[in-house]
Amino acid sequence: MLQGDFRDPATAERIRAAVGGPADLVLSDMAAPATGHAATDHLRIVALAEEAFAFAAAVLRPGGAFVAKVFQGGAEGDLLAGLKHAFAAVRHAKPAASRAESAETYVVATGFRGPPAA
Ligand SMILES: C[S@@+](CC[C@H](N)C(=O)[O-])C[C@H]1O[C@@H](n2cnc3c(N)ncnc32)[C@H](O)[C@@H]1O
Repeated sequence: MLQGDFRDPATAERIRAAVGGPADLVLSDMAAPATGHAATDHLRIVALAEEAFAFAAAVLRPGGAFVAKVFQGGAEGDLLAGLKHAFAAVRHAKPAASRAESAETYVVATGFRGPPAA
């Protein structure tokens, strides 16, 4: 098991080295401790999801998938636009295990198109 702050580029690099090759799936359940201020919590989780997306774009194999926890709240526009560009399909999913009163949901992106041509 690797532990570290994912916002530190060295952490992502350690994970990448441990995976050792193209990944089938990157799944982020990261969430910063809740402040109780919905807009702040939303922005913080979207920032983590964007970090995870950048990592996924660097390590996924073509056809791979990306799943990340986000909170419903409206500031996901840039993230969703980027995902729709990079993946064939993007949708939201709320698993049965997620409490109905929780704003958490998951963005599920499948069919990674592969890294942009150099
Ligand atoms: C909802 S919990 C996930 C629990 C996890 N699915 C489990 O079963 O243990 C959110 C997790 O995100 C982690 N987290 C928040 N910010 C992070 C960051 N910058 N880097 C790495 N992990 C982070 C927290 O430490 C916490 O464990």
